[in-house]
Amino acid sequence: QGLHSLMVAAGKLYFGTAMETNNFNDAAYQAISTNKNEFGMFTPENSQKWEVTEPKQGQFSFTQADQVLEKVKSNGQLFRCHTLTWHSQLPSFVSAGTWTPETLTAVMTAHITTVMEHYAGQCYAWDVVNEALNEDGTFRESVFLTTLGESYIPLSFTLAAAADPAGTTKLYYNDFNLEISSAKADGALKIVQLIQAAGAKIDGVGFQAHLNVGQTPSRAELGATLGRFTALGVEVAYTELDVAHGSLPASDADNEQQAVDYVAAVGSCLDVEGCVGVTVWQFTDVYSWVPSTFPGKGEACLYTEDYQKKPAYEAVLALL
Ligand code: XIL
Repeated sequence: QGLHSLMVAAGKLYFGTAMETNNFNDAAYQAISTNKNEFGMFTPENSQKWEVTEPKQGQFSFTQADQVLEKVKSNGQLFRCHTLTWHSQLPSFVSAGTWTPETLTAVMTAHITTVMEHYAGQCYAWDVVNEALNEDGTFRESVFLTTLGESYIPLSFTLAAAADPAGTTKLYYNDFNLEISSAKADGALKIVQLIQAAGAKIDGVGFQAHLNVGQTPSRAELGATLGRFTALGVEVAYTELDVAHGSLPASDADNEQQAVDYVAAVGSCLDVEGCVGVTVWQFTDVYSWVPSTFPGKGEACLYTEDYQKKPAYEAVLALL
């Protein structure tokens, strides 16, 4: 048994991880990631972002993400797709372009349609809009907001639904700190309602859950937040879970606290019927994005750099 098989036994759809092509020639990594009991769902960590899939206007490139998809698919595992409309990792033709509502809509239409059609039938879900909110729940500044106002959000979902006529791909809004900021969670609830009021399809809300050791809400608090969203008729998932230490190297006590925090997150998904699964944003510290993005923080994953299982791994496994 492993994380994924036990999640499924608990009535959920998956336990997953981010993965990227640079992980392919790491034998220790592959031994774990190809174990279907351990991981059943994979998100390409960077290779489906706009700067990779359409670096120049109208020039699409799917090579890298296709390699991740092929690896996962050939092993009978599922794929979660990430992401379409996002202010970050945008090619300069978008971020530095001069747009009218009409021309930006045309570019978004071409991008969303082409990328989603390439992956038709392959994605469990797409993160259609990513990180549209500030911490206080207001809309984040971006080329999309400046040009189109908040309507870029329902527009993205309308375009995504049109690009998936079979209707089999779950369309998600995805963001971070919804777990810890009720103001930001309020903003995300309003986004769900904005999309629904526009008559567009939204199926889920992704909680990135980039959490910090000792600063993670309790299982009950996390579950209550998830429940505010499922009450609107959408499913929820943890899409990028990691729990970073703020002082390094972590002590044994720090690692015990990290285990408590991981259990709170995974446990809250177990507690909420509409929570479908948990994805960690890499399972080993070797490939974690945390140290380079947040200097001084790290050791955020379930496995050490030496592929040893941490207390957090053992605690999540025991929970399941
Ligand atoms: C991160 C990747 O992990 C890094 O490799 C990359 O340099 C920057 O992006 N929210 C998201 C993810 O939705 O796409 C981000 O991934 C982490 C924060």
